Amino acid sequence: MANSPSGDSVTGRLVRVLETFTPTRTVQTPAEIGRRAGLPSSTAHRVVADLVAAGLLDRDGEGRVSVGLRLWELATRSSLALRVRQAALPAMERVQARVREHTQLAILEQDEALFLERLSDPDAGANITRIAGRLPLHASSSGLVLLAFGDHELQERVLTQQLRRLTAMTPTDPAVVRRKLAEVRRLGHAIAPGSIEEVSTGVAVPVLDRAGRATAALSVVLPRDAATGVALDALHRAAHEVERALTRDS
Ligand code: PHB
Repeated sequence: MANSPSGDSVTGRLVRVLETFTPTRTVQTPAEIGRRAGLPSSTAHRVVADLVAAGLLDRDGEGRVSVGLRLWELATRSSLALRVRQAALPAMERVQARVREHTQLAILEQDEALFLERLSDPDAGANITRIAGRLPLHASSSGLVLLAFGDHELQERVLTQQLRRLTAMTPTDPAVVRRKLAEVRRLGHAIAPGSIEEVSTGVAVPVLDRAGRATAALSVVLPRDAATGVALDALHRAAHEVERALTRDS
């Protein structure tokens, strides 16, 4: 890829432009994009124009741009994540119908839990996860199962970094997280009360591959002091269904 005078590759600049879009910032002017991406204004305008011409960004009548559906289409249709999501959806719907709280599917991505799907009930409690949003591994129930049933190198990498505190209940001492991971492996599930948000408890199980590694995590977010038994039973059944569906497909 050709590099700019600053040493940035074309792909690097495209990614920086696309990364300026967030769940709460979906429409921007090219000048705003340039500022947020740290690109000179002329470069930002050129990159945005190229992306609009390719259909990856859409431009409205006032010259403001948003992420185009073409980008979603290209990124989604051949993605491995889509296969996991499709295998998981029927089981997630059963969990959701039984538990009537948020039901979520996450996979490991760059040392974080990336959420591929979330089903919600109109009466469900608080939940800060979003589809295509991320949560830290040590703090979320999904992250804890991905970490506990993940590679040793992953565990060492995560546990030797500063562990971010999200609430007073977030475990930030590596020794405490190590003990928690041992417990998660022993029990086959993670319960994370208040460590993402004070008001809720995340409950998660791994979807395992043949080698016993987590392919994904299925989770439910409950009100903080709710009983976890029904959710855990529903999640364990769902995880086995997804494991069977993924083995059938492979
Ligand atoms: C969790 O996975 O532990 C979790 C996720 C989202 C929340 C609360 C807990 O809002």
